[in-house]
Amino acid sequence: MAHPLIEEGDRVFLVSDDGEEFLTVVRIGGKFGTHLGVVDFNDLIGKPYGTPVKTSKGKTLYAVDPGYVEDMFHMKRKTQVVYPKDSGFILMKLNVHEGSRVVDVGVGSGAMSYLFAKAVGDSGKVYAYERREDFYKLAFENLSEWGVMSKVELKLKDISYGIDEMNVDAFFLDVPYPWEYTDEVWKVLRGGGRFCTIVPTTNQVQEILKKLQKLPFTMIEVWESFFREYKPVPERLRPYDRMVAHTTYMIFATKVLRGDCHGSG
Ligand SMILES: C[S@@+](CC[C@H](N)C(=O)[O-])C[C@H]1O[C@@H](n2cnc3c(N)ncnc32)[C@H](O)[C@@H]1O
Repeated sequence: MAHPLIEEGDRVFLVSDDGEEFLTVVRIGGKFGTHLGVVDFNDLIGKPYGTPVKTSKGKTLYAVDPGYVEDMFHMKRKTQVVYPKDSGFILMKLNVHEGSRVVDVGVGSGAMSYLFAKAVGDSGKVYAYERREDFYKLAFENLSEWGVMSKVELKLKDISYGIDEMNVDAFFLDVPYPWEYTDEVWKVLRGGGRFCTIVPTTNQVQEILKKLQKLPFTMIEVWESFFREYKPVPERLRPYDRMVAHTTYMIFATKVLRGDCHGSG
């Protein structure tokens, strides 16, 4: 569709030229209050995305459809979430695509589960584990709001009691002591299946490397990403003064089969 129209129930991202941002759900007869004034949803319903709307204070906001980054930065979160600069790379390195079966531990607020769910399409599945009930409930809420719950099997379970799936294509592990679970990760992945874990400090990277190197994994890699945004002013083009410097280290590995296994795992 060339110009999708804004409908009742749509999640809409309202943004000003000065970079003020709001994410809301459009309801017939409803209004949305911001410090820039009130937006009347009747001014949006039936209009194409990209439409400008005047607030009660005469300010202009543009209504666009939220993308991955807006969804993640405007979600309800109680845990540290994976930054988009890292999560996009992780998605590619794990080779998650239509039809993939992915294990995601721990779910936290659900940011990575969301990204995986969007990528696996209707024929894939995300098996998402979270041990804390409050985070499980929050992730359920977020994933439902994003409309991806049908692609996620969300489990309230501590993985020290085991993983229920076998032969998965990818495994993402975001827990405090990931090296405690590398044997289980190897068991659960299919041959050629991809693994990623993330940790904030270098001593943790050392711990995980020691474990991975004792197991049949190949393509063991350690990455860190740096992104620097520029002020979009053509006459004075330069970076912003501040940047998000360190977020996480990303460790990747690919499962290979033991010589005596002949494909059995
Ligand atoms: C940093 S958060 C995960 C953030 C998440 N990856 C995201 O993108 O939003 C870590 C989560 O792992 C959960 N967790 C820690 N150990 C776990 C385990 N053994 N089994 C299941 N969940 C676990 C914690 O409760 C917490 O919610």
